[in-house]
Amino acid sequence: MGTGKLKRTLSEEINESLVDSDFNLKGWVMHYRDHGGLIFIDLRDYAGIIQIVFDENISAESFNTAKKIKNEYVISVEGKVKIRPEGTENENLKTGKIEIEVKKIEILNECEVLPFQIEEESDINELIRLKYRYLDLRRKKMKDNLIFRSKFNFLIREFLNKNGFFDIETPFLTKSTPEGSRDFLVPSRLNNGNFYALPQSPQLFKQILMVSGFEKYYQIVRCFRDEDLRADRQPEFTQLDMEMSFIEQKDIMSLSEEMFALIFDKLLNIKLNLPIKIMDYDDAMESYGSDKPDIRFEMRLKTVSDIFGGSSLNVFRDCLSKNGVIKAICFKNGSNLLSRKDIDELVTVIKDFGGKGLAWTKVGKAEQRPKPAPFTNSSLLTVSAQGCKLEGGIAKFITEEEEKILIDRLEAENGDIIFYQADEKKVADTVLGRLRLYLAKKYNLIPESKFEFLWVVNFPLFEYSEEEKKIVAIHHPFTAPNEEDIKLLDTNPLMAKSQSYDLVLNGEEIGGGSIRIHKTELQEKIFEILSIKPEDARLKFGFLLDALSFGAPPHGGIAFGVDRVLMLVKNVDSIRDVIAFPKTQKAQCPLSDAPSHVRSEQLRELGIKLIEKDKLI
Ligand code: AMO
Repeated sequence: MGTGKLKRTLSEEINESLVDSDFNLKGWVMHYRDHGGLIFIDLRDYAGIIQIVFDENISAESFNTAKKIKNEYVISVEGKVKIRPEGTENENLKTGKIEIEVKKIEILNECEVLPFQIEEESDINELIRLKYRYLDLRRKKMKDNLIFRSKFNFLIREFLNKNGFFDIETPFLTKSTPEGSRDFLVPSRLNNGNFYALPQSPQLFKQILMVSGFEKYYQIVRCFRDEDLRADRQPEFTQLDMEMSFIEQKDIMSLSEEMFALIFDKLLNIKLNLPIKIMDYDDAMESYGSDKPDIRFEMRLKTVSDIFGGSSLNVFRDCLSKNGVIKAICFKNGSNLLSRKDIDELVTVIKDFGGKGLAWTKVGKAEQRPKPAPFTNSSLLTVSAQGCKLEGGIAKFITEEEEKILIDRLEAENGDIIFYQADEKKVADTVLGRLRLYLAKKYNLIPESKFEFLWVVNFPLFEYSEEEKKIVAIHHPFTAPNEEDIKLLDTNPLMAKSQSYDLVLNGEEIGGGSIRIHKTELQEKIFEILSIKPEDARLKFGFLLDALSFGAPPHGGIAFGVDRVLMLVKNVDSIRDVIAFPKTQKAQCPLSDAPSHVRSEQLRELGIKLIEKDKLI
C-alpha cells in the first residue's frame, strides 16, 4: 500500500502534543519485534528514533507487508500518533512516550544481510567498519561526530566572516611546501617527467595572498603529508588555516582564543577561562619534558643535578662530569600503585622512550630520631620537613643531606616513588616527560572531562639536526626571529628565539603559527643559516621570494588541525572517528581500496615505468 499524500516529518518533530494527528515518516528499520498480532519497529531517521506499531486489527494489509521487513530496510509509513500504554514508555528515547500506529506502509528498499548490526554497543573490528563505512556512519556515535563537525565548521566560518576574513581557495596541484614532511607527488600527463606535490599546507599561497592585499584570509582546507601514521595523524587531514597582515603575535593569539571560546560555549556549553595560559618553550621542556605539556595533572620534572654534585653513585657523577643533568619526578602514592615487578617493567618502557636506565627510590616515613646532641652538626641529622626518608632502589647511595633537599624539592610524601634520569638534558627531559604521561595514563591520573588549553611560545628559531648534520628550522624557514634576537643570527643562531606559537589542548598540539619574515635580506640570511643555497631556495620557493620583493606587508598566521581538535573535544581515541572516510594506519582506504594498481596505458601516458622495489637505488 503506497504512502505519499502526506509530507515527510522527522521523528524529532513528533511529540505528545500531536496525539491523534497523522504523519508520514521515512527511514531505516533499526529493531524489529514480532509479538504475534502486533509488530513493533524502531524507525531511525537522521534526527532520531521513533517506535512504530503494526496492528493486525488496524490495517491487515500493512501488517502483512510489515511481516516481510528485516533490519535496515528503508520504509515509508503513514499513521497516527498515540501515547504508549502505561509501563511501555522508553525513557532513553526523546520520542519514548509515544508511538505511531501505522495505517499505510511502503517498502522503499530492501537490505542485504548485514556484516554487523547497527547497534551502538557492538564492538566491531575497525577494518570491517571502514570497509562498510556507509553502515558504520549509520551508527549514532559516528553520526553525532560528523554532525558536530559540520556545526563546528559552520561556527568557524560565521565567526571569521564576521571578523572580516575572506575564504579563498588555494591549489592542490602545486609545488612542495616547507612543512618538512614527505610530499605526495602527482605525475603530470601534459608535462611528462614533471610532478605536482600535494600541499602539506597552503603556507606559501596564503603568504602570497597577503602580498596581494587581502589582509585577512582563512580556509578550511585539506592538507597532505606522507608521514608515518599514528592515532592523531592522517595522510590527508583538514586545517583551519589563517593569515593576517599588519598583525602581531598577541592579536593572532587573542583572536584564536575568542574563536575557541565561542565554539566551546555554543557546541559544548563550556565557558573557557580567557586568556589562555602561556608557557615559554624552555619552561615547558624543563617542567614537562615536552613542547606540548598536558597540564591537566602535576608530576612536574625537577632538576636535581645540584643536589648530586658529590654523589657516590657512579652513573650520576659520570653524567654530571659530561655536562649532563639529573632530573626527577615524584609519582604520588606510587608505592601503593606499583609492585616491585611494575617498577622493573618500567625500565623496559623507559628504553622505548630513549632512556638508558631508570633509577628510583620509594618515600617512606622517617622513624623518630633521637634529638641531636647540642654540639653535633644538626643539619646532618635533620629529617625532611615532611618527616620522610628514601628507601629502596638507589636510596643507599643518597646521603641524609641529599635526601632532605630532594624530598623538599619534589614535595615528596610518605608512599610516593621518585624516578630519576641522568643523561643529556634533551634526553633526560624527553624520557621523564614520556614516563610522566605513561604513568598518568596507566594509573588514571588525568581528569577525563577537563579541557586545558595552553599556548607555548618563544620556541627556538632553529635546532641542530643530528640526522641531517645541519641547522634546521623548528617551525618553517619563513618564521620571523624575535626582534631582539636578530643580532644573534650572526653570532649564535641556535640561541635565537622565534615569533612562533603553538596551541596545545590536553597535551596535544592542535595548532601552530608564526609571524613571517617579510623582508628579502632577512629571508636570505635565514636560508644561509639553514645551508639552503640561493639557487635551491629559488628552485623551491622562488615564487614566494619574488612575491615578497614586491611590497609584502608585515604578516603572520596560524593553522589548527581540525580533525585533532574534534578528536579531543569528542573524546574519541582515534582521529578516524571524526573523519567520514579516513585511511588506515597503512594509509589505505578499505572502502574504495585506494591506493590501487593502475592500467599500463595510464602509466605510459604519464611517462612512468615501474621498477621492482629491490632494484631501486
Ligand atoms: P603545522 O605543520 O604545525 O603548521 O600544522 C598545523 C596543525 O595541523 C595539524 N596536523 C595534523 N593533523 C592530522 N594529521 C596530520 N598528519 C597533521 N599534521 C599536522 C596539527 C598542527 O598543529 N603552515 C603551518 C601553519 C602556519 O605557520 O600558519 C602548518 O602547517 O594540529
